[in-house]
Amino acid sequence: MASIYLCRAAEVEPGSVHKVEREGGAALAVYNIEGSFYATDDCCSHGLSSLSEGLLDGDIIECSLHFGGFHVPTGKAVLAPCSIDIKTYVVEQRGEELYATVED
Ligand code: FES
Repeated sequence: MASIYLCRAAEVEPGSVHKVEREGGAALAVYNIEGSFYATDDCCSHGLSSLSEGLLDGDIIECSLHFGGFHVPTGKAVLAPCSIDIKTYVVEQRGEELYATVED
């Protein structure tokens, strides 16, 4: 496991989602839900769509392509046509910066 830098906390406004590109790994989506930060894979499990371009409604991210959705804190697929859960990552805030724990 490794801790990787995501972005500054200020870049993720409450109620919004922010895409973080990763060298040597798939992009992550970072969410601010009422002041708590979460991260998931950015790619929808239903198709090649970026979840950070979707709509964050409470703790559900709705994909912009076919309007499926996931529960952000758990990654569970909750809106059809999505049926495969997405990965979630533990986010840690250190000062003004956000970090996620990912597999090496
Ligand atoms: Fe996300 Fe189809 S690609 S719902």
